Amino acid sequence: MNSIRFKIKDECRQNLCKYLSQAISVLPPFEKPTILDMGCGTGVPTLTLAKYYNGVILAIDTDKEALDCIISKLTTQVVSSNIIVECRSANEIEFPLQNFDIVLAEGLLNIIGFENGLRLVSRYLKQNGFFIIHDEYKNHSAKLEVIKSNGY
Ligand SMILES: C[S@@+](CC[C@H](N)C(=O)[O-])C[C@H]1O[C@@H](n2cnc3c(N)ncnc32)[C@H](O)[C@@H]1O
Repeated sequence: MNSIRFKIKDECRQNLCKYLSQAISVLPPFEKPTILDMGCGTGVPTLTLAKYYNGVILAIDTDKEALDCIISKLTTQVVSSNIIVECRSANEIEFPLQNFDIVLAEGLLNIIGFENGLRLVSRYLKQNGFFIIHDEYKNHSAKLEVIKSNGY
């Protein structure tokens, strides 16, 4: 049952990968970047990241069944990044400061809160790092203010 649910979701999310590709296309090139995918789900965007980068991708989510799905995809797909999958909450992450070149939150900030997400990530992004957010188009001006006021 779950595999059908995830299959349908994956097909929908696959259609969104073009936006992630667009975001990646405006970033400078990275050699072996360290990437965090927060709320990776079944890994559709994670695998898109892995198409573009040859570094390390840490993929975290609180849904163990979704993570089983990404793990099973990794057994059949060859990717150039080293993908590490962990069942962890974005709210409880602890990393060395300025650890990541890129952080992705695709469909997560509407769950954990926009400003909360920005605050969490600002500590762990390297100085010249990038935060890619895929969020609902709602309260746009207020969100732009929050982005600025959090030092991005
Ligand atoms: C809309 S889905 C997006 C999944 C994936 N990023 C994608 O685009 O296919 C949101 C994901 O966030 C996860 N999630 C919710 N709260 C979380 C938290 N506190 N920490 C990490 N992941 C969380 C959910 O389990 C779910 O997989």
